[in-house]
Amino acid sequence: MSAAVRKRPSLYATAVGKKYAMAISGLILMGYVLVHMIGNLKIYFGAESLNKYSEWLREVGEPALPREWLLWGVRFLLLAAVFVHIHAAYSLTVMNRRARPERYQSKRDYVAADFASRTMRWTGIIVFFFVIFHLLDLTWGTANPDFVHGDVYRNVLASFERTPVAIAYVIANMALGIHLYHGAWSLFQSMGWFGNWRRPFSIGFAGLIVMGNVSFPLAVMFGVVN
Ligand code: HEM
Repeated sequence: MSAAVRKRPSLYATAVGKKYAMAISGLILMGYVLVHMIGNLKIYFGAESLNKYSEWLREVGEPALPREWLLWGVRFLLLAAVFVHIHAAYSLTVMNRRARPERYQSKRDYVAADFASRTMRWTGIIVFFFVIFHLLDLTWGTANPDFVHGDVYRNVLASFERTPVAIAYVIANMALGIHLYHGAWSLFQSMGWFGNWRRPFSIGFAGLIVMGNVSFPLAVMFGVVN
């Protein structure tokens, strides 16, 4: 091929493409954390309510689809979204570093941008490790000595009755809140959504998730749920 007939780079190879990839995968993950938090509110309606919901998650789609197929579809979508989100974030950071070797003109802009990106990196890493522990704790049961397959309510209680674990959940969900707030704000900015409502909307979304999620370990620790 002659040098003149250069192949056009794929959209994903460009900064705009990576921002779209961050936005779409971010939206999928935001949708998941919202639905998951709302689903978990069934803890407040008792064991039967939460356990029935968990069973329903396995049955949903039947009889059109075999048992658990829809659940596995969602799991694959989530896994793909996590992979794309981390890959795009990492390669955008590398791209930005190469594009701006002399850093920002104003020290204030530099400090603000650096703080935001560092915050996103660290809160992202905390959330990532939290999810791994969370799966070991409440899905596979390896990190939960009193785990009983099929009794989700009992497993949640057994998990949060260990105070250090409950505190770790609170801290991780606060990190998730910071990540969601800044992530949602950047996402809406990239997509040109919500105009003047961008900040309040991002705060509202992140605040809702944090309040819901933090309430569960606290409710068990203080005996509201038992
Ligand atoms: C205190 C807050 C949370 C509680 C009480 C909670 C509770 C649970 C429970 C009980 C399960 C097992 C459900 C079942 O087997 O039917 C589960 C699964 C899961 N949770 Fe959470 N969760 C919380 C926060 C989060 C957060 C913040 C994330 C993500 C950032 C998350 C991601 C997941 C994932 C990916 C699964 C596996 C779903 C599956 O494939 O079956 N959870 N959670």
